[in-house]
Amino acid sequence: MVTWKELGLSDHKKMLQDALKGGYAVPGYNFNNMEQLQAILTGCVKSQSPVILQVSKGAREYANGTLLRYMAEGGVKLANELAASLGLKPVPISLHLDHGEDLAICKACIDNGFSSVMIDRSHDPMDKNIEETKKVVDYAHQYGVQVEGELGILAGKEDDVEAEKTTYTRPEDVERFARGTGVDSLAIAIGTSHGAYKFKPGQKAELRLDILQEVRKRLPELPIVLHGASSVLTQYVDMINKYGGKMENAIGVPEDQLRKAASMGVSKINIDSDGRLVVTAIIRKTFAEKPAEFDPRKYLGPAREELVKMIMDKNKAVLGSEGRA
Ligand code: G3H
Ligand code: 13P
Ligand code: ZN
Repeated sequence: MVTWKELGLSDHKKMLQDALKGGYAVPGYNFNNMEQLQAILTGCVKSQSPVILQVSKGAREYANGTLLRYMAEGGVKLANELAASLGLKPVPISLHLDHGEDLAICKACIDNGFSSVMIDRSHDPMDKNIEETKKVVDYAHQYGVQVEGELGILAGKEDDVEAEKTTYTRPEDVERFARGTGVDSLAIAIGTSHGAYKFKPGQKAELRLDILQEVRKRLPELPIVLHGASSVLTQYVDMINKYGGKMENAIGVPEDQLRKAASMGVSKINIDSDGRLVVTAIIRKTFAEKPAEFDPRKYLGPAREELVKMIMDKNKAVLGSEGRA
């Protein structure tokens, strides 16, 4: 057993409380490999933003759970060294399990030094969701680990679970859920969805900020989380399509809607697909322009550089987390 403090991580609770008070959101960026981790940390150190490193079940399967824990520990050291070398402050870093499906995976992460876990039983009926979420809260709180629960169902695919349509969070359920589980933060469904196809062409890309407002009124102290919050930036979708990809009609959440949500009390915003698009776009472009290149550093390196830029832009324009470290 190793604790998040031993890994050099920061207090997740304080990070979200500071965000709630400050009217900004802490980014939850997913990583699966070294280049993504380096880019996320470099972008957040340079923009002096707190950051939540997110690991999904799929990431654990892809990269190995034990390796990811050491990567995160190394990542903290890398970020601190980088900050010192630039004459900047160290930034708060948290390590979070994204979409944990049961107590077993949450326990494995808590025992491996994660500072926060999500238990996602949003597909279950409310009482079952409360029961399963509470089990994780009871275990996690013994070790000072924070727990994110979810109410409402996002459309799209997350690990093995897929939903065709959004089931919006019902504000009248949130107090019972929060009281019954003791969760430290709550993910809600207000029209975002996972992946790169969030809205249909011609459909108004609008979030139900009225639901967010009603939830905040009922739970003013509880940090709210937004999943599926990639904007699916057109410059990268266009680049993918230009260099042989096929991603027509990929549409994300408009950045101004996310900024509004952050100012209305969303304290954590999850972004994965936008990073994937950047990496894919740059690799495709490099392959097309330099067909003889076969050193992975020559195409992963530029992808990593572009990812740093995207992260810095997001922290500033969308999360409002720039300069909040
Ligand atoms: O919410 C899902 C995240 O984007 C993680 O995706 O399960 O493919 O790693 P993944
Ligand atoms: P996106 O697919 O919009 O990036 O959402 C990521 C997410 O919610 C991770 O939990
Ligand atoms: Zn998610």
